[in-house]
Amino acid sequence: MRIAVYPGTFDPVTFGHLDLVERGRKHVDKLIIAILRNEDKQTLFSLGERTAFLSQAVASWPNVEVDSFDGLLVEYASRTGASLIFRGLRAVSDFEYELQMAMMNRRLAPNLETAFLMPNEAFSYVSSRLVREVARLGGDVRGLVPPAVVAALAKKFGHTAGPP
Ligand code: PNS
Repeated sequence: MRIAVYPGTFDPVTFGHLDLVERGRKHVDKLIIAILRNEDKQTLFSLGERTAFLSQAVASWPNVEVDSFDGLLVEYASRTGASLIFRGLRAVSDFEYELQMAMMNRRLAPNLETAFLMPNEAFSYVSSRLVREVARLGGDVRGLVPPAVVAALAKKFGHTAGPP
């Protein structure tokens, strides 16, 4: 059974993340979305909220699970029996950080392979950080994140989510 872990903070999940899950899940028996618990890092959404958004968004994909982890990613991957880590590459600017992580993870767990997937170019500029910023300033983030996230962002920042 080929298992891949797709780790991240997902604060919040975007359509770019979901595009990656949809692509990745076709190549494995099971894809586990592993949300970093981030106890020392301030996130906009709690772990419960981030998990709920993701679970709802992937509910129709039978081989996708949502879980959370803390500590080393390689240890989590080993516990779940994963042989692959999926990460997204949107642009060259992502590459340096991703290469460093992939090489460090390889040093820690030589048999665990990192595979990079490119999201649809329509989402190449979408990041959770920018979505949070635009939403905080009252901009329209519909079409970038699932409707439940649009509503939650509007509620968090005291704006209206806009017409349906
Ligand atoms: O979505 P993000 O915030 O870019 O994801 C970063 C993540 C969760 C993949 C990375 O921070 C991570 O793997 N953290 C777990 C701790 C760990 O294993 N650190 C060493 C990785 S080289």
